[in-house]
Amino acid sequence: MAIRKIIRMGNPVLTKMAQPIQTDDVASLPDVIQDMIDTMRAANGVGLAAPQIGLSMRLIVFEIPKNRQTAGDTNTPTSPQVLINPKITHFDDEMELGWEGCLSIPGLKGEVPRHSTITYDAIDAEGNMLTRHACGFHARVIQHEIDHLDGILYPERMLNLRQFGFVDELEEH
Ligand code: NI
Repeated sequence: MAIRKIIRMGNPVLTKMAQPIQTDDVASLPDVIQDMIDTMRAANGVGLAAPQIGLSMRLIVFEIPKNRQTAGDTNTPTSPQVLINPKITHFDDEMELGWEGCLSIPGLKGEVPRHSTITYDAIDAEGNMLTRHACGFHARVIQHEIDHLDGILYPERMLNLRQFGFVDELEEH
């Protein structure tokens, strides 16, 4: 398995709509999926989308550590997750602000509004359809990663660019 290079903001792949994965191609994905999980972990990320390693395909992985799970939320999976062709099927109207970083925008973070609660569908690594309700940080990660599949980076979602800066400066002051 290999740690792949993570491409950064400015690379046009990150602004493109990624292509859906065809059913026949799911069987060919395990190597890419394992590389994505290894790459995400090596970079201390909680999520990674295929376009971030230069692949324009609708595939994301995420792994939310227990200490990042929203209090009281029992629906966040604890093992590494693979979502093929993920789609948000319902957005709650309520929005909340939260800080986000991105492995393609290293060293920075910003405050981004996201829907508090969503429902999403995807195909898992075994080829099974899944549907989940997500809230809090889990919902935020899914919205951030699916945005990558649509060519959107989190600064485009920000309402107040004064709440955007280098992580070390923001945490020091
Ligand atoms: Ni990101």
